[in-house]
Amino acid sequence: MNTERDDAGRGTGEVTIKAQAERRTPEAIAWSGVGIVGAGAVGTALGVAISRSGWPVVAVVSRDATRRHRFCTLVPGARAFVEPAAISDVADLIIVAVPDDTIAEVAAQIRLHSGQAIVHTSGAVDAEVLTEAVMEGGAMGGFHPLVSFTSDVERSVAGIAGATIAIEGDDRLAKLLAALAEAIGGSTVRLPRGAKAAYHAAAVLASGGLVALLDAIVALGSTAGLDERVSLAVFGRLMEQTLANVRGMGIAASLTGPVTRGDVGTVAAHMAALEAQAPDVVELYLATARRQIRIAEERGTLSPNQAARVRRVLAKER
Ligand SMILES: NC(=O)c1ccc[n+]([C@@H]2O[C@H](COP(=O)([O-])OP(=O)(O)OC[C@H]3O[C@@H](n4cnc5c(N)ncnc54)[C@H](OP(=O)(O)O)[C@@H]3O)[C@@H](O)[C@H]2O)c1
Repeated sequence: MNTERDDAGRGTGEVTIKAQAERRTPEAIAWSGVGIVGAGAVGTALGVAISRSGWPVVAVVSRDATRRHRFCTLVPGARAFVEPAAISDVADLIIVAVPDDTIAEVAAQIRLHSGQAIVHTSGAVDAEVLTEAVMEGGAMGGFHPLVSFTSDVERSVAGIAGATIAIEGDDRLAKLLAALAEAIGGSTVRLPRGAKAAYHAAAVLASGGLVALLDAIVALGSTAGLDERVSLAVFGRLMEQTLANVRGMGIAASLTGPVTRGDVGTVAAHMAALEAQAPDVVELYLATARRQIRIAEERGTLSPNQAARVRRVLAKER
């Protein structure tokens, strides 16, 4: 079923997607099937998730015979190609899932026709990197699942359910991508042009940044005699409560602590302890303290004088 396709119908407005996928696809869109370029972590997991959702995945491009075979075993009906150029002959929605730095090079080998679309899965790169593929028509966009994909395909597929998928593209493409995201269990955010890098930086802060923060917390815990497991239990509980507060009351109302009260003596004691016992945590403490001062000032609970005193204590330690 997956390879069934009406060539004459492409780009004419006829709906050619079969069975279940036909009901889930916006009526105005005429996609005959999805093709994936790159059978790595993201390409394979998306191929499996999309296929299982009932949308036809008709092709994969991979330079590696083992990965091509694995993809076709996991996604019955998909045809495998070595060259990216072949994919626009069989698929109308092409998902490029290759390393960020190679997206443009891969897109340059693909020529879309009117009615087809190409997207990539990078969270950091704008859709314009696909421009060469759409010279003769077609649409370009982005489809970035906020998921940590690994070589464990099933774990990666499971991670897609409930995840946010950032989509980019014109209205028609965005409608299709939103339907696809919904079909695989995701919810969408639509990013305006040029917003990708900031969005991705936020994601990196939310994941890698949180891990780095926890690493510093555990380091401080160890100077207080707590091992990693105990520190994560003790401070993790506080973090969970704080996250719940932020979700419930918003950022400004959830901020507590000596910085927000203007307790300069306590802040000075923290800085002295950090300099003496964990100097590599000082930068992180300073950066977050300065951000806290700003929040407290903006909500009006820290006066300009108090804020200046806290800033002086922080600056003295540098
Ligand atoms: N991993 C994540 O958690 C994650 C999450 C969201 C988004 N992303 C994004 O998804 C994209 C793919 O990431 P990934 O983690 O799936 O990478 P990956 O596991 O390394 O897979 C990349 C795929 O691209 C192919 N490829 C590599 N270099 C190529 C080249 N020069 N020309 C053509 N194909 C090439 C690979 O080789 P073969 O052709 O030999 O198969 C492989 O199939 C990236 O843009 C990444 O930013 C990743």
